[in-house]
Amino acid sequence: MTQTIHPIDVILHKRDGHVLTDAEIQVFIHALVERTLSRQLVTDAQIAAFLMAVFQRGLNPQELATLTDAMRHSGETFDAAPLHTFTVDKHSTGGVGDKTSLLVAPILAAAGLASPNSAGTPGICVPMISGRSLGHTGGTLDKLETIPGFNTQLTLDQFCQTLKKCGAALVGQTPRLVPADRILYALRDHTGTVESPFLICASIMSKKLAEDLKALVLDVKVGSGAFMPTYEQSKLLAQLMVETGEASGTRTVALLTNHDEPLGRFAGNWVEVWECVDILQNKRHPMSSDLIELSNILAGWMLHFAGHSATPEAGAKLSDEILLSGDAFKAWLRMVATQCGDVSVFHDSAAHHQPTASRTLTATHSGYLSSMDCKQVGWAVQRLGAGRAKPGDPVSAHAGIEMHAKLGDEIKTGQPLVTLFSEDASLLDEPEAMLRETLHIAPAPPQLKPLLREVIAKTSPTI
Ligand code: URA
Repeated sequence: MTQTIHPIDVILHKRDGHVLTDAEIQVFIHALVERTLSRQLVTDAQIAAFLMAVFQRGLNPQELATLTDAMRHSGETFDAAPLHTFTVDKHSTGGVGDKTSLLVAPILAAAGLASPNSAGTPGICVPMISGRSLGHTGGTLDKLETIPGFNTQLTLDQFCQTLKKCGAALVGQTPRLVPADRILYALRDHTGTVESPFLICASIMSKKLAEDLKALVLDVKVGSGAFMPTYEQSKLLAQLMVETGEASGTRTVALLTNHDEPLGRFAGNWVEVWECVDILQNKRHPMSSDLIELSNILAGWMLHFAGHSATPEAGAKLSDEILLSGDAFKAWLRMVATQCGDVSVFHDSAAHHQPTASRTLTATHSGYLSSMDCKQVGWAVQRLGAGRAKPGDPVSAHAGIEMHAKLGDEIKTGQPLVTLFSEDASLLDEPEAMLRETLHIAPAPPQLKPLLREVIAKTSPTI
């Protein structure tokens, strides 16, 4: 006779440091999703207790793989089989000014459109399900929705049709995709259990693996703008995500990348689209060079996994060639138009930037831009109106900042450091004070860290 598993037993086993069986994890996740239909099977208090037990005790690789898989299959999933294509995506663990998705997706789409399979479908597809801004980091969906008409809420069928036509689609999560994560995440937020690398890994990977990926490239930030507080914790998260991805049959690599300052020239919503469109049109601003470099590194790994380059480094070179050729811009226009976006705004992106208030902060003394708390810069951007205090709040399309200097740059007294944009003049004061406090100018140049700190892969050694 098979033994019935009760939610309380799962909680007690984890609390007491036992290893959970696959069945215990699967039943618990099933029960917490079913409860939203039947309202009875498992209580919020029990889910919270489970989360705290996992937070305290951690999970072994098998438990983590089972939890991730159970969450991934807790609702509908995308099925890429009819496309007969190589599905590949990237994910960044948050960032200030991190708009790499808006470049990487069209670069890969261009490569895929140029190499159709026998069914006429692009040889590579990027089924990118993205998130919204929360906390100090921006969200890809909020940026895309500043393009008039752009529809991020596609059904799975529309998603599939867009991929067939464009080689990439950038959409939001549907209510039925990975519902277990929605339930768990909401409770984590209220129970002090967000910062568990095991729970973060299961949350991120369940959603990414629901895209039915052949390969996944993860950008795990380290430094003052990173989500995880130390290098070691970012590295542990990266290792867990790589193990979990590989265990589910998805080629997975994680790049630990330095994030001590905003990536690129702008941070905000429309301003980030504008920066990417400039790059796609070969208008390369010097402040965007780190953004271009990181996008090529990420796209390089994706092209390598898809078999388009012998090494990730050759892939990065190919990625830059695709950018420079204008093919990525064509792929971008096709995708935006297919998702109902008005591409005419890209004729003059600067003219579409319409903040009602702006202010420029200048240097009070000469020296070198030596340090900043990048998280504080991110919070300043959000408080200008670009982000939201809680899920569901509206965001401002034209709020953001333009950085005028990078860490290590020589600065003269009176030189502009950063320009603030808002759609509400009363929102400028607090972010200005936050930026003034955190941008430090010192007499000597700082020791700069490389953009790519370490590669975590199943087989490749670290760099
Ligand atoms: N992003 C997610 O999707 N989940 C987490 O737990 C943290 C960041």
